[in-house]
Order: sequence, then C-alpha cells, then structure tokens
Amino acid sequence: MRTRLTEAFGIRHPIVCAPMGLVTGGRLAAAVSAAGGLGIIGGGYAGTLGGEPDLHAELAHVQGQTFGVGFITWALARAPRALDAVLPHRPACVFLSFGDPLPFAERIRRAGARLVCQAQNLAHIDAALTAGAAAIVAQGAEAGGHGAKRATLPFVPEAADYLAKRSPATLLLAAGGIADGRGLAAALMLGADGVVVGTRFWASAEALTPRAATERGILATGDDTVRTTAIDALRGVPWPDEFSFRVVRNKLTDQWSEREAEAQAARGSLAEAYAAARDRQDFDTVAIVAGECVGLVHDRPSAASIVRGMVEQAEALLRRGATLDLA
Ligand SMILES: Cc1cc2nc3c(=O)[nH]c(=O)nc-3n(C[C@H](O)[C@H](O)[C@H](O)COP(=O)(O)O)c2cc1C
Repeated sequence: MRTRLTEAFGIRHPIVCAPMGLVTGGRLAAAVSAAGGLGIIGGGYAGTLGGEPDLHAELAHVQGQTFGVGFITWALARAPRALDAVLPHRPACVFLSFGDPLPFAERIRRAGARLVCQAQNLAHIDAALTAGAAAIVAQGAEAGGHGAKRATLPFVPEAADYLAKRSPATLLLAAGGIADGRGLAAALMLGADGVVVGTRFWASAEALTPRAATERGILATGDDTVRTTAIDALRGVPWPDEFSFRVVRNKLTDQWSEREAEAQAARGSLAEAYAAARDRQDFDTVAIVAGECVGLVHDRPSAASIVRGMVEQAEALLRRGATLDLA
C-alpha cells in the first residue's frame, strides 16, 4: 500500500501512531515503526502537566528507528526547551497540535525534521501552511482526546480539495474514528495519504495506558463517549476555549459533562482531587481518554498485530471494491 506518505518517510504502511500524551511512550512508538508504520512519541504537555513520562527515557526506545515526537503546541509555548531536548535525537517529524505552530517551525526544519500539524478546521490548515507544514492531519471530532467540532467524513475530503488548490505538495493524513482496515481504506478513498490512529493503539500491549483504563474502555461502546470542556476546567488545565476533550463516560462526566459554564466558574477546584485520583488509578474520576471508535476495540493486542490487521483488511476491501460491477 504505497502512498505519498510511505514514500516521503520511507515506511511500509500509511499508518501513524498518534502522539498520545501519557500513552504513546517509546515502546509503543518503536513497535509501530518496527511493524512498518510510523510511531510518534507523545510529548504531551512538554512536562508542564506533572506526572508525564520522562521524554529522554522514552526516546531511548526508538534509537535507530524512524520515529516522530508530538507536542501540544500551547503547552510547548510554555516550556519550549522540551523541543531542544528532542531535536538532537533526529526525529523524522515533529507533530504540533492545538495552537500556532509558527514560533517552532524554523527550529524543527533546521534540525532536519518535518513539521506535521494537526488541524481541526480550515483556519488551522491555513496556520499550518503559513508555518510551512510538510503534512497536515485533518482531525475529526470523533477522535479520542482533545479536538474540536468538524466530523472526519466531510472534513478530510474538504481538506484534500483545499490542499489541492493551495498547497498540493503538502501531505494529508486523516484522524478521528479510524480503528481498523475499513477506516484506513475509507480514509484513502477520501483523499488522505495515510491515517493517524489513537484510540486503537491506546489499547495495545505496548501502550502506557493503565490496565484498569483499558479494561473499562474495552467494555464501552461508541455511545459511551462524551466531548466536554468541563474536565479541563475542573482540573485547572488551561486549554484554549475552542478545544474540548473526548473521553469515555465515568462518574465525573456523568456529573459534569453538560455543566460546562458551571465547571468554568469552578476552574481548578478539582485539581488536587484529580491528581490524587490519577495516583490511585481511580477511573470514576480520572478520564478514560478514548474516542468514538472505542466501540470497535475489544482487546489489547500487540501494536504489530494491529498494524498488520488494518493493512490486510484495507487491502482486501480495496481489492474487492476494484472488482465491483459498475456497469
Ligand atoms: C489517549 C489519547 C491521548 C491523546 N493525546 C494527544 C496529545 O497529547 N497530543 C495530540 O496532539 N493528540 C493527542 N490525542 C489525539 C490524537 O493525536 C489523535 O488525533 C486521535 O487519537 C485520533 O482519533 P482516534 O482516537 O479516534 O484514533 C490523544 C488521543 C488519545 C486517544
């Protein structure tokens, strides 16, 4: 399955493991890259959140591999040295999501890495193009974790048309709701050069995800996720207003997910309780971070078997599609 993405990065399959903070450590990124995809270590909040894994230790797992690192852009702006620590490790790309990538673009390019920007609407694509992004990830609201409002199915082809007019050499990846070969095949048909997969790899053997969280995720259906700004407000994490958090429902979201204005007014009031709940792995309070496609996730297999399964299923579907009688 050769695409512009596989050619550009010298990888075998057009599957990228999302840079999930606290989840995509070096072992998962290395396993995806070894399986022929591209693993992106989750640099998350660039160390500003507390409790994040040590990036140096995670980077040690991917030495000698093609890999990337991702940061939450507004958090990196608060701790820009995190980027300096990563660039000497020669990542093939740096993912920047949620904020203006321009202040970091030149440093990334000078270090020989490609800039990849995750975008949630056309204005974000404009900002990514201004920063000279080599690839843009069109992320739909179905996605696990933070995101915005556009849906993957119409956003990806609109982004493909937009890039075809404005910047045809820029690669396009699709993210949000892609968990198997059906999603991969569909994304390629929508005009993407590859896919960014989060939730499916969140439940993989190599992920840093606590077992107790995976166990609850595996029992959830897509109906059980919510997107809300209340959790970040209550725990006092300063996300820009335009982004909300998709998680699997739990006691905290049952109480708060629809009381967003009240949660904003109570900003930070659960910060300590939330941190303590994280320490004792209490997933009635702490978010189980996964997207709508959690309903397609029923196990915690190796990353290699996830990559293999997606590719085999997508190839079979695309072959079968090619034999449809269209007369
Ligand atoms: C557990 C989890 C953590 C995430 N953390 C980050 C992050 O730190 N930075 C980021 O850019 N995206 C993050 N994302 C979003 C992913 O980059 C990606 O857009 C999303 O997972 C794709 O949708 P999917 O979950 O339906 O596969 C996270 C997603 C999940 C599920």
